[in-house]
Order: sequence, then structure tokens, then C-alpha cells
Amino acid sequence: MSFLAQSLARVKPSATIAVTNKARELKAAGRDVIGLGAGEPDFDTPDNIKEAAIKAIRDGKTKYTAVDGIPELKAAIALKFKRENGLVYKPAEITVGTGGKQVLYNALMATLNPGDEVLIAAPYWVSYPDMVLLAGGTPTFVEATIETNFKLTAEALEKAITPKTKWFIFNSPSNPSGAAYTRDELKALTDVLVRHPHVWIMTDDMYEHLVYDDFVFTTPAEIEPSLMSRTLTVNGVSKAYCMTGWRIGYAGGPAELIKAIATIQSQSTSNPSSISQYAALEALTGPQHFIAENNKVFKERRDLVVSMLNQARGIHCPTPEGAFYVYPSCAGLIGKKTAAGKVIASDDDFVTELLEQEGVAVVQGSAFGLGPNFRISYATATKDLEEACVRIQRFSASLS
Ligand SMILES: Cc1ncc(COP(=O)(O)O)c(C=O)c1O
Repeated sequence: MSFLAQSLARVKPSATIAVTNKARELKAAGRDVIGLGAGEPDFDTPDNIKEAAIKAIRDGKTKYTAVDGIPELKAAIALKFKRENGLVYKPAEITVGTGGKQVLYNALMATLNPGDEVLIAAPYWVSYPDMVLLAGGTPTFVEATIETNFKLTAEALEKAITPKTKWFIFNSPSNPSGAAYTRDELKALTDVLVRHPHVWIMTDDMYEHLVYDDFVFTTPAEIEPSLMSRTLTVNGVSKAYCMTGWRIGYAGGPAELIKAIATIQSQSTSNPSSISQYAALEALTGPQHFIAENNKVFKERRDLVVSMLNQARGIHCPTPEGAFYVYPSCAGLIGKKTAAGKVIASDDDFVTELLEQEGVAVVQGSAFGLGPNFRISYATATKDLEEACVRIQRFSASLS
């Protein structure tokens, strides 16, 4: 009998972190590797945010804080929700955690009983199913295929809801597809959710600010205010403010749920880093202009990658509205062979051979629940992206 808990057998380590580690190992061994696996902006945290953190340290803001966030940060988050999303939350309806990841995890821990189902659209962020399993729930899946640009249709959502569905996790713009729902597309989904009052909505808005071509972001409770009483609106500073390492995420939701999240947090990690909270306060209240500047670069990279991938034999890459990922299909290469005679039977094979032969690290679609596809993060230097796409083109052309 293993010393380790049985619950551990239900989950697997993050596939995206595994790819990043593999690429790092190969690099350390002297291979020329371009890593396109990481889910974080390559831009540095803006200086005003760093200065706010340094000031917090100098001012002695280095002690425990309220478990789910300092009042100033909660007030800034409430203002952000009002200003950007038209959502009105009181301080008791706001929680701050160590990254959006902790907020999502705590919310599932605080609400799931054995047998409860959590409905997740595939392709999904790798952590959702495993978090649900760790919390003792059952993940259920509904596909959002390439035919609908990786967006869930109202019909598919309606069919996938069961009497046991406790949460529906919604993520727009999406990791891994980059797909973002327009107002009309989201309204079609909220119309379905209105008809199923037992289903709560966990919306992961982490990539809210990373949208291109004048796309207008919307979130479920904004489109359908009647859902406010059963929606947890999750967001954070990691992506838009280039603060992945600072570990601050937050959410707005009904007070009873927010209190339950704080209870879990109080018995596990306590408050998120006091210093990071002051940095996040500056992020939300300070200058915002760099977001548009970063997005200009991201958009150029997205267009470059989409165009170059669509020129690769056997690869089809839709243009996503947001985030910093593309999720091309490699269906046209399945069944083909490498020069060494290895058959590409799946997206796992494609990704493995691409890394071996050309030193390009991407993540296989099987990790995100929908394939045969692979995810490229274009949050990396433009010249590396260009070189990586040349290598992908060469690799695809070499298969027979
Ligand atoms: C869709 C999605 N949600 C949540 C997170 C978690 O972000 P953080 O914990 O850094 O706030 C990520 C990070 O990769 C993500 O891609």
C-alpha cells in the first residue's frame, strides 16, 4: 500500500509544466530548443508595480493581512468590476487569493460533494478537471470543436447539463484555444443557463484584457444580471499585468460562497503575500496604457504565427480573438511517417517528434481534451516564433 493519499491517484501533474521542463532539460543538455509551452507573458512587470512592492517592504507592510485580502485591494477590485464589467460587488463579495488558480481551487473545495458534476468545455485549461477531482467532484466534458472556432454552442451546452451539474466552468478568452465569445455568442449560453437554476457559473476571465482587433470582452453576469446570484467571476493580475510570479488572483461572488472560500484559505495558506497585494493594488489603480502596447505586439505575433502555420502542410490554424495561444489542428498529418519510419498516430506523437527533430516545444492537444491539435504560446520573442514556425513547416513537409 502506497504511503501517498489515494486522492493523488486521481490527478496528474500539469502537462504544460511537463513540456516546459522537458524543453529546459534539452536546452541544458546543449540542444537548440525553442520553448512555446509557457503560459506567461514574456514582458517584464511594469516599473510602477515593482516600485509599489518595494515601497510596501520599506513601509513594513510585511505582516499577515486579512485572510482574503487587504481592504484597499478589495476596494480597488470592486471598482475594477464596476468600471470594466458593470458588476457591483460589496467588499464581502470579493476574495483575493494566491493566484486565480487558488481561488478556483478553493471555490471547488468549498462547494463540491461526492457525485457533484462540474461541466467543462473542451479544449480546457489543464487544471480544471484535476482540481475538480482533487475536490472530490466529477468533471464532465462537452466539446467545442474547431468547426465552431472552439466555441460552445447553446445546443451543446443544453444537452450536456444534467441534474447533477453543480458548476459550469466558462473561460473566455480561452486557454488553450484563444477563442473569445462575442456578446451574442455568450448571450446564447446565458439564455440556456437561466433555464437551469441549479447550475452555478464559474467564469475564468483571466485573459480579459488580452483581446485583439477591437474585440469587446464580456462576462456572464454582465450579459445576464439574473445570473449574478450564482456566478463566481474569477480574474487576476498574472496575464494582463505580467505578474505571473507575484501570485495574486481574485473573484467576485455571493457573500456566502466568498466566506466559504476564505474559510478554506484560512486553514491552508492564509493571506496571499502582503507585498504582492500592494503591487496588485498599484496594478489595478495605476496607469493601464502598457496593456494596449503589449497587445499590439501580441496581435502582430498572433497574425505571424497563424499565417505561417497555415502555410505548413497538413496544419490548419484558426485565428483566435484573444489570449496568447493558438490551437492548430494537425489532423492532416495523422497517419504520416517520419524519415525514420515513425508513424504520427496522434498529437502526442506529433509533439514528441517535433521536439526531437526540430527542437520546438509545443503542448499536445490531448492535455487539453480535444485533438488532434497542439497549443502554441506566442508569448515569446518574435524572432524565435518565426524560427519555430519555419521549423514546424520543415517538419510537416518532411513527413510522408
Ligand atoms: C485559463 C487560466 N485560468 C487561470 C490561470 C491561473 O492564473 P494565476 O493562478 O497565475 O492567476 C491560468 C494560468 O495559466 C489560466 O491559463
